[in-house]
Parts: sequence; structure tokens; C-alpha cells
Amino acid sequence: MANDFEFYSPTRVIFGRETEQEAGRLVRECGGSNVLLVYGGKSAVKSGLLQTVKESLEKSGIRYQELGGIVPNPRLDKVYEGIRIGRQEKTDFLLGVGGGSVIDTAKAIAYGLAEPEMDVWELFAHTRTAKKCLPVASILTIAAAGSETSKGCVITNETTGEKRAYDDNLARPRFAIMNPEYTATLPDYQTESGCVDIMMHTMERYFTNGGNMEITDAIAEGLLRTVMKNARILHDDPSNYEARAEIMWAGSIAHNDLTGCGNDGGDFMTHKLEHEMGGMFDVTHGAGLAAVWPSWARFVYQCALPRFVRFARNVMGIVMDGTDEEIALAGIAAMEAFYNSIGMPVNFSELGIHPTKEQIGEMAERCMAACDGHTGSAKKLSVQDMAAIYRMADE
Ligand code: NZQ
Ligand code: ZN
Repeated sequence: MANDFEFYSPTRVIFGRETEQEAGRLVRECGGSNVLLVYGGKSAVKSGLLQTVKESLEKSGIRYQELGGIVPNPRLDKVYEGIRIGRQEKTDFLLGVGGGSVIDTAKAIAYGLAEPEMDVWELFAHTRTAKKCLPVASILTIAAAGSETSKGCVITNETTGEKRAYDDNLARPRFAIMNPEYTATLPDYQTESGCVDIMMHTMERYFTNGGNMEITDAIAEGLLRTVMKNARILHDDPSNYEARAEIMWAGSIAHNDLTGCGNDGGDFMTHKLEHEMGGMFDVTHGAGLAAVWPSWARFVYQCALPRFVRFARNVMGIVMDGTDEEIALAGIAAMEAFYNSIGMPVNFSELGIHPTKEQIGEMAERCMAACDGHTGSAKKLSVQDMAAIYRMADE
């Protein structure tokens, strides 16, 4: 039966070729006049996107400062640096040009500037909630994290090695500019990791033990099949615009909460397990998810058997006869085969990490601490369960 829900996805999406030229006009319409432009390494410079965005801001008479050099698994020190610049320059609008790491950094800076007397890390440590946030907008260059429309924000504290999420509607971007052409310069590994992340955002909401709706399931299953189909196309033909467009739009829908309407809030344990791997080993988020999901799935499937059977049939196309258990396991194996077919890892050794027994214990402890009591829906996990899943992925 469906749970009651609120669906809130206020981000204005501007999708397609040359949409980046609208940046200045859109910032102006959102009331911004003094922007902090946040970006990553070289990709947005090399593609010319950053220059086009600057010209668009200038054309609209908008002042801007820049904060480049945001790295994947974005770091708290860059957030503090952005807050320092923003205070000095009286920034009133954050514009992230890049992927999840850049947009999340922009969101964290926006929180920090809105409440300058507080330490922004407290949000990620879950010792307080935000009351305010400056407006944020995104110009997306990689389809993956969904941060361009999501309420999520994930930052790594490089001093403690903790990678932590803070979710709040306050940081939902005012607009998201998405031109699929710009994703064509992505290394294959990033494209494929992005596809896994997009699918996982929907799978986290799909493998639940409460409040499922037919319409939500149909959207989720259609999204998963579409991403798999187009991920395979991009694996062979990375410059295919239509496939890039399908994946890019799927990335936003997968994480703007549409595929969770009516459920019990989702499982999200694969993400929480992966965040500890990212914090400790700095792995690429989507690849980390692929490496741990099969172990999580085999550990929990008996506790949500009807969902795993439905997934096997409707998403993975399993047509065999057999017991529910056999069908569920065949669905998990098919997903593993799909990950491998697009060059993604399905265990720690394929991911290239080799945690010690102590490191596995530490990741499990940290994961439990980060859960804040929400330890899954398909199966509620104990800290021992978390360690067992890491060990299965390590075998
Ligand atoms: O820094 P540059 O040079 O731009 O290189 C980036 C980076 O190395 C590169 N890249 C991006 N666009 C490119 C490109 N290279 C060539 N051409 C382009 N068009 O890709 C690399 C990865 O970028 P990143 O922003 O880290 O990728 P992604 O979007 O996957 O973001 C991952 C981060 O988002 C978090 C993850 O944990 C991770 O920290 N997440 C954020 C969420 C949210 N805010 O809602 C939810 C997710 O579950 C996720 O946890
Ligand atoms: Zn994710």
C-alpha cells in the first residue's frame, strides 16, 4: 500500500544544445547579481564551457568570482575556501559548473555563507540542521550523482577521512542547465560509473519493504531498462548524442525523488556502505557502488524476496522457471554481468582496493555511525551485517 508523501522538485530544468548560453539570464531571473562560479579540474576549461558561461554572465551584467580545483569526493577545505571568498566578495549566488562534486561543493558553500557564525561541517556531522542556504544553480557536465536537482550534498572531511551526506530541500538548485553534448568528453570509466550511480539511486528506492506504488515501480523499472540500454550504446559509441541525452535526463529523474514516491523512504545502504569506501580509499562513487551492490543484494534478498523477484523479471528480463529464490539470485547475477559488460567492477579486487580486517571493521563502525538510525529497508543492518557485506565483497 502507498505511504503518504510530499514530492518537491522545484528545480527549473533547461535541457539541450547551447542551453549554457542562458546562464546569465537565468541567474538574473533568480535574483543573483554576484556569483561564485565553482568548477573542477580542467574539463570545463578545456571544453570551452566555462568561458561560455562567463561570457553569458558578463552579458547579463553579473559579477563573478571563481573557485576551481574541486576534486572528486570533494573536500571540506575547498568548502571553507569558498566560504572565505564568498564572505569577502559578498557572494549572493552559487553556480556549479561540473558534476556532483562541484555542485555539492557549491551547495556546502551556500549553507556556510547563509549561516556564517556556524561551522558548516556540523550539518554533515548531523549535529544540527540548516535554517538557511544561499541560492544555488548547476550547469551539469556528467550524468551521475543527480545533485543538479537533488536535495543531497556529500562532502569528505579530509582530516578524519569521513565522507558524509546532508540532505535538505533548502539546497535544491534553482535551475539546472543540461547540454548532453558536454558529457561526450568524459572518460569511459566516468560515463559508466555515472550510469551505475543513476541506476543505484532508483534501486535504493526500489528495494524496500514498505509502501510500493504501481506507478512508481513502472517509472523505476522503465528508467533502469532505459539506462542499461543506453549505457551499452555509449560503451560502444561514446559520442552518441541521443544516448547521452537519455542518460542525462535519467540521472535527474533517478534522484529528484520521483522514483521513491509512496515508498518508505528507501533502503540506501549500498550508498552508505560505499561512502565509507570513498572516504577511506577515494574510489569513484559509481564504481564503488557496483563493487558492493552484489554482496549487499545476496546478503539481504531473502528479506525482500518479492521485490527481488519482480526486479529479476521486469528489469533484468529473467524468464526462467524456478523458485522465487532462484529467480531473485538469477536477477542479481544478471545485474553483475551487466556491470562487467560495461567495464564496471563487481567486487573489491576488481575495484582495486584491498582493505585489511581492521579497515573493514572501521568502515562498518563508521557506516553505522553515519546511518543515524536508518540502517536499511530491504533489511535493517547491524554493524556486524555491514562488516559481513564488506567481507563478501572482498572474497
Ligand atoms: O574536475 P574535472 O576536470 O571536471 O573532472 C571530472 C572528475 O574528474 C570529470 N568530468 C566531469 N565532467 C566531465 C569530466 N571529464 C571530462 N568531461 C566532462 N564533461 O569527472 C570526474 C568526476 O566528477 P564528479 O563531479 O566527482 O562526478 P559525479 O557527478 O559522479 O559526482 C560524484 C560525487 O557526488 C556524490 C558522490 O558521493 C561523489 O562525491 N554524490 C552526490 C549526491 C547528491 N548530491 O545528491 C548523491 C550521490 O549518491 C553521490 O553520493
Ligand atoms: Zn550516488
